[in-house]
Amino acid sequence: MPKRYYVTTPIYYVNDKPHIGHAYTTLACDVLARFKRLDGFEVKFLTGTDEHGQKMESSATAAGMDPQAFTDKMSRNFRDLARFMNYSHDDFIRTTEERHKRACRDLWRRLEERDQIYLGTYAGWYAVRDEAFYAESELDEGPDGRKTAPSGAEVEWVEEPSYFFRLSDWQEKLLDFYEANPDFVLPRTRLNEVLSFVRGGLQDLSVSRTSFRWGVPVPGDDGHIMYVWLDALTNYITAVGYPETGAGEYTEYWPADLHMVGKDILRFHAVYWPAFLMAAGLEPPKRVFAHGWWTNEGEKISKSLGNIIDPFELVEKYGLDQVRYFLLREVPFGNDGDFSHRAMIGRINSDLANDYGNLAQRVLSMINKNCGGELPEYGKFTSADKSLMNEGLRLYGSLQNDFNKQAFSKALEVIWAVVSKANLYVDGQAPWALKKTDPKRMGTVLFALAETIRHLAILTQPFMPDSSARLLDQLAVPEDHRTFAFLGPDYMLIPGTRLPKPEGLFPRYQEEEDS
Ligand code: MSP
Repeated sequence: MPKRYYVTTPIYYVNDKPHIGHAYTTLACDVLARFKRLDGFEVKFLTGTDEHGQKMESSATAAGMDPQAFTDKMSRNFRDLARFMNYSHDDFIRTTEERHKRACRDLWRRLEERDQIYLGTYAGWYAVRDEAFYAESELDEGPDGRKTAPSGAEVEWVEEPSYFFRLSDWQEKLLDFYEANPDFVLPRTRLNEVLSFVRGGLQDLSVSRTSFRWGVPVPGDDGHIMYVWLDALTNYITAVGYPETGAGEYTEYWPADLHMVGKDILRFHAVYWPAFLMAAGLEPPKRVFAHGWWTNEGEKISKSLGNIIDPFELVEKYGLDQVRYFLLREVPFGNDGDFSHRAMIGRINSDLANDYGNLAQRVLSMINKNCGGELPEYGKFTSADKSLMNEGLRLYGSLQNDFNKQAFSKALEVIWAVVSKANLYVDGQAPWALKKTDPKRMGTVLFALAETIRHLAILTQPFMPDSSARLLDQLAVPEDHRTFAFLGPDYMLIPGTRLPKPEGLFPRYQEEEDS
């Protein structure tokens, strides 16, 4: 049986242009998907757009467009971002696609057949921005007497006929499920939030609306359209071929290994979604990881503050791999983090240019100048050489561990600890001085370094695919020898291999005079 891994991003609302938050969530999934592929897994990596609901309908109206034309146009921005950021998704789903509407209808029928849905009337608060219902007790009241959701979104009173899902029946079963699967929600602190919400008691959930039209009609009662979150969450099974559950991708990839989400949408993924699935007789996903939020130079990012960070601009300014590195290195994954240009430049100049770039550059130029541009022969390895090379060998296991916990910044820290050791080793061994005194020894030292850099370049591929590929090119590592199966000790570089002329990988960022 091949090892398989299924990872998903949230599907993004298309009413706004993509920003750093969207780029961040998908990046984390991309890095994970790339890691797993290099580690021999058959991976399915899904992203896409969430195109139904009241918010989309009113945004389309405001733009003077028909909702389908509006979502067609806006969804393209997210596909452009995905290409631009070099994401390696295997599928991009849109909830307006027929395959998805079919899956929604089927899930609805399944729930209905199991008596999990009944008709009633909803009277309560609704926040269009969150597309979420709120209990009175959850709301805050502003000085003007207007009520707002915990997210800050305005709420409106809604009273309309509605189908309800018997969420209240699932409280105990959900609690049992969390207990049996302690890593279902990560980080652990987020699990506590989920537990306290569920222990607080669950109300039946309104799962249809009648006051607007833009959505999937309820089978058999098309005066109702399905609640946009029931529709949206279903995308995760649509993409593996649901309603076909007996064959194909569903059997290969479901339950998903990981739904990556921001902390704002944890409740939908960790409470409603497993309840819907269990109620339909389907398996819940294996894990939901809720990451933190970015602020911009200390301020909450919001359209009204006008401080949205545009990922396209960021990449133009700093470079793609630089941005990919920064976003996953700067903040322990799961925590909130602050974006600042100073921090970005600091990481580029110190971690990338000074540490990693400089290591590669000096070793490759010494080989180029002193070994005739060929990988040198090596003699007997000393304990210092072995100790450095062992660091490289040990990295893989330790990264597997970190990746299984989505600890991306930790993984980068561990990689950079080896970069630092390698730089210290260069200083300590001073191969430039050996050139005259002991050229054979110089060859051994440079070979040990090249081997270490090969490990680093293979293992940084998920984070920085382009730069790592260029570094592997400079080491003349064949393209089909770049997976984790080629990490040592069974495989090594071959002395005598001709190397291309070295070129710098990570230029220092020079601040412009006026910035
Ligand atoms: N459409 C729903 C998700 C449905 S999934 C079945 C949705 N879409 S969204 O466009 O609002 O995207 C939300 C996601 O964007 C968050 O969960 C988070 O992943 C990301 N972020 C949005 N702003 C963010 C920050 N400021 N910082 C980090 N990520 C944030 O919710």
